[in-house]
Amino acid sequence: VTTPAVDIIFFGGTGDLALRKLLPALYQADKAGLLHGDTRIFALGRKAIGRDGYLALLDERVKPRVNTDLDPDAWTRFNQRIHFNSLDAGRAEDYEQLLHDLGGVSERVTVCYLATAPHLFTPICMHLAAVGLNHPNVRVVLEKPLGHDLASSNAINADVAQYFSENQIYRIDHYLGKESVQNLMAIRFGNALFEPLWRREWIDNVQITIAEELGVEERGEFYDQTGALRDMLQSHLLQLLCIVAMEPPASLAEDAIRDEKLKVLKSLKAFTAEDVVTKTVRGQYQSGAIKGMPVTGYRQEHKVAANSNTETFVALQAEISNWRWAGVPFFLRTGKRMQERTAEIVINFRNVPHALFPMPIGLHSANRLVISLQPKESIRLYFLAKEPGDAMNLQSTYLNLDFHTTFKARWADAYERLLLDVIRGRLALFMRRDEQAQAWSWVEPIMRSWEQHSIAPRPYTAGTWGPAASGSLLARAAAVWHEET
Ligand code: BG6
Repeated sequence: VTTPAVDIIFFGGTGDLALRKLLPALYQADKAGLLHGDTRIFALGRKAIGRDGYLALLDERVKPRVNTDLDPDAWTRFNQRIHFNSLDAGRAEDYEQLLHDLGGVSERVTVCYLATAPHLFTPICMHLAAVGLNHPNVRVVLEKPLGHDLASSNAINADVAQYFSENQIYRIDHYLGKESVQNLMAIRFGNALFEPLWRREWIDNVQITIAEELGVEERGEFYDQTGALRDMLQSHLLQLLCIVAMEPPASLAEDAIRDEKLKVLKSLKAFTAEDVVTKTVRGQYQSGAIKGMPVTGYRQEHKVAANSNTETFVALQAEISNWRWAGVPFFLRTGKRMQERTAEIVINFRNVPHALFPMPIGLHSANRLVISLQPKESIRLYFLAKEPGDAMNLQSTYLNLDFHTTFKARWADAYERLLLDVIRGRLALFMRRDEQAQAWSWVEPIMRSWEQHSIAPRPYTAGTWGPAASGSLLARAAAVWHEET
């Protein structure tokens, strides 16, 4: 269904995120006929490269990314939508010019996507408001990282709130736009099968992993001040945890879902200094190999301090103090330069109370639900079945729902789905201010404790599953990471 005619303004239009993710996503939506004929795209950048210069940049950077889906007519149409303005985020005159090029203040829905460093969020919002570009039909999209800790995130949110009301603010976490995350809600709340088992009585532990093969690439400077806890765990992993653990919302209304997610975040048991030592593992990659190709260590990366103590890996054991989940460990793990690129949620069910059959060697739980987000989207349900033959030998096997073979429909990338949601004014998949503050409050004692006690990251070889301590964390709860079973 085509979306209404809107103006989309990209601050940071010449930046990496815009060129790698946002414009390719919009092109795909346009090609699929989802953008209204009158929708316009305004890219903003500091350099005065002009519209032609920007179109050349799209040719160079965006075209190769949409390669196999390139359709000359669709590409021409997409290019016709594009405008370019050079804008210095701090210069009031540049916003006057932008407003002029937009054709003045109108009632039109206007999406301002702030794909810039967070310190620019406040001046951008202030200048937008100064020229009247904060009327109720203006929506502002804030990219992560939204601050560095609770105080800085609160400060940004308070500043933005001076100019925009909460229902105009779209705090993006692109993991919520991934197809399998939506599917997790569908299988949980659309089927009677799982929900009765979705609780402490039947679930032994939950594991959430986002592992990347990539290192820090060109983002050494940013990453070295950030680390895996802030970059991934505070946002993506906690959001996934919320979707796994939340109570069924009363409806799909945005606040019904966000209220339930907030309750989960509020129920997360706070880490004491002792917990930080026993229940978190920090790691940093050293040189190694990814798929046989040698790669350098983190400290040798471009713009990373030679003595850096920033973590590129974190694993931790979280607990949710409520009736559904008390006592169930939630193991969260993320890292760069790991053995495989994979993102998955694993629900390990408890074993039968009285075992008639011996458990196959090396197996910890008979029943497991594995929701794979990456590299392929699938849901697998593991169970034990008898091997053919005389003996009663049981083997682990699974039912597999592979989304790409089951559904032939076109697949929207996470950014495409979320951009379309902003255009349509759907807030459900975006974080509310209180959710975000709560997530920061929960990770803050971990960050502070690491700093205060100088807990250095443990080295791990690039191309592995992280420091050995990550396995020991689970072993203490008589569990093992899914890929090791
Ligand atoms: C981003 C992080 O939010 O997510 C990056 O800042 C990370 O460090 C990326 O590489 C991972 O996203 P995806 O969708 O490629 O798994």
